[in-house]
Amino acid sequence: MTLRAVIKGAGHYLPARVVENSEFEATLDTSDEWIKSRSGIERRHFATEGDTTSSMACAAATAALKDAGMVADDIDAIVLATSTADFTFPSAATMVQAQLGMTRGFAFDVQAVCAGFIYALANANALIVSGQAKRALVIGAETFSKIMDWTDRGTCVLFGDGAGAIVLEAQEGAGSPEDRGILSTDLNSDGRLRDLLYVDGGVSTGTSGYLRMQGNQVFRHAVEKLAATANTAMDKAGVSAEDVDWIVPHQANIRIIQGTAKKMGVAMDRVVVTVQDHGNTSAASIPLALSVARANGQIKAGDLVVTEAIGGGLAWGAVVLRW
Ligand code: ACO
Repeated sequence: MTLRAVIKGAGHYLPARVVENSEFEATLDTSDEWIKSRSGIERRHFATEGDTTSSMACAAATAALKDAGMVADDIDAIVLATSTADFTFPSAATMVQAQLGMTRGFAFDVQAVCAGFIYALANANALIVSGQAKRALVIGAETFSKIMDWTDRGTCVLFGDGAGAIVLEAQEGAGSPEDRGILSTDLNSDGRLRDLLYVDGGVSTGTSGYLRMQGNQVFRHAVEKLAATANTAMDKAGVSAEDVDWIVPHQANIRIIQGTAKKMGVAMDRVVVTVQDHGNTSAASIPLALSVARANGQIKAGDLVVTEAIGGGLAWGAVVLRW
């Protein structure tokens, strides 16, 4: 028998403020047509007063717990992926722990930018299969609107805010690809590529900084690295492209999503796409897409799902799971 981390519930939160592409036309030399055709993005949500990374994470976690039929004290561990925590410390995860009223267990943040949820899933999976936690909340939450340079049309039109969460529970499996739960993980980073995507501020410089990106360079790395990590994760899981029911990719750009699916040999009708409505919500994008796809009936129990993401670092990776 093999211990597996099985998904028991999913939930998400999107701030009330919806910003259409056309809103940027008033302040920037850009157009709805350019943003849509180059990125696939049509609108995004921005945090309003009262929305912070931890409050949005807490709302998503509450929805995921409800979906799982669990309460906060059923959870042993919270792993929260974010690059935009409310404070330098404590972690957003411990703030969520307190806001949920969870009086036991442990909580910590993971920072791998847009690949953050993949890294968080891999960490939570390791905690579960090693017996350190029976049930874990894995959350991705971001307020990227706070690190946008609103004069930089190459970045500020691409990102959005939000949160998504899933609940994992330890269950015995047979050790085969037919098991439910996380079947494999694959993590990668290459710090030499730092200049392609970074925030030009931080604690030791006394600023919060703004996101800087050489978008076309990131694009060049993205399709190749995402297809490679997804294929590696599928090999580790003992599954192939024909077995895949859904790819749930990081939602950065529809052209990257299409290029990666093509390279993997998976048709677009088996790819979950939310980028048009959410923009790039960094570590929140995959759990948001998982929760939306679950809620609208796309992903069903037993489906084989491949998730993949790349972001600042560069850091990238993939997780193969059976819902
Ligand atoms: N409106 C109009 N024109 C624009 C805009 C805009 N909002 N932004 C850039 N342009 C212009 C550029 O200035 C450039 O003009 P020039 O030719 O006169 O110099 C032209 O459009 C082409 O710019 P490119 O950057 O080459 O355009 P590209 O087709 O590559 O699309 C984009 C840009 C959408 C950013 C794309 O490169 C992309 O999606 N890159 C990957 C982003 C990504 O995946 N990031 C990783 C995750 S994010 C994270 O980890 C935080």
